[in-house]
Amino acid sequence: MTDLVIYFSRSGENYFGGQLKNIEKGNTEVIAEYIQELDGADLFKVEPANEYPADYMQCIDVAKKEQQNDARPEIKNALDDIDGYDTIYIGFPNWWGTLPMPMFTQLEKLDFTGKTVKPFVTHEGSGFGSSQRDLKKLCNGGDIKNGLSIPGANVYDVKDTVEAWIKE
Ligand SMILES: Cc1cc2nc3c(=O)[nH]c(=O)nc-3n(C[C@H](O)[C@H](O)[C@H](O)COP(=O)(O)O)c2cc1C
Repeated sequence: MTDLVIYFSRSGENYFGGQLKNIEKGNTEVIAEYIQELDGADLFKVEPANEYPADYMQCIDVAKKEQQNDARPEIKNALDDIDGYDTIYIGFPNWWGTLPMPMFTQLEKLDFTGKTVKPFVTHEGSGFGSSQRDLKKLCNGGDIKNGLSIPGANVYDVKDTVEAWIKE
């Protein structure tokens, strides 16, 4: 059975080891595409109805407020079910210690009962943060496997690591 990757990723201005850089493809998307290539998985990108600012400082403000308000930002095309999949990869950047709030919007719509869940995160030093605790609630009923944590600056050097983790 084909696997599915549900992910969020933001292009635009971002921090790399203390420096602001503009990127055309988000870090998490690079990993999602490795999984597509190596595993033949389908990709589903969670896209907020209102795009986040490309400006990094503005973006972190918006994201912080959403988290403080426990918001569920509207998303463009929600996925209604995952009935046709057994294994779901869930990918996201660490935003203020956990998943970006649009991932909450999406994941709460889905029933993970009996599914295998493989989470991956890209980050600037905090790894999964508290996202694994949040994922337990969001993917209630799923069997959550060992996660993969990748520093955002390294995404172009970790294809082998991703391949080994897929095979775990
Ligand atoms: C709004 C926002 C909040 C972030 N918060 C954290 C954080 O708390 N800890 C951390 O290690 N990195 C944090 N980062 C850095 C991102 O997790 C990292 O750059 C990630 O690779 C971005 O993935 P993307 O390009 O797929 O969106 C934050 C970035 C943004 C834009």
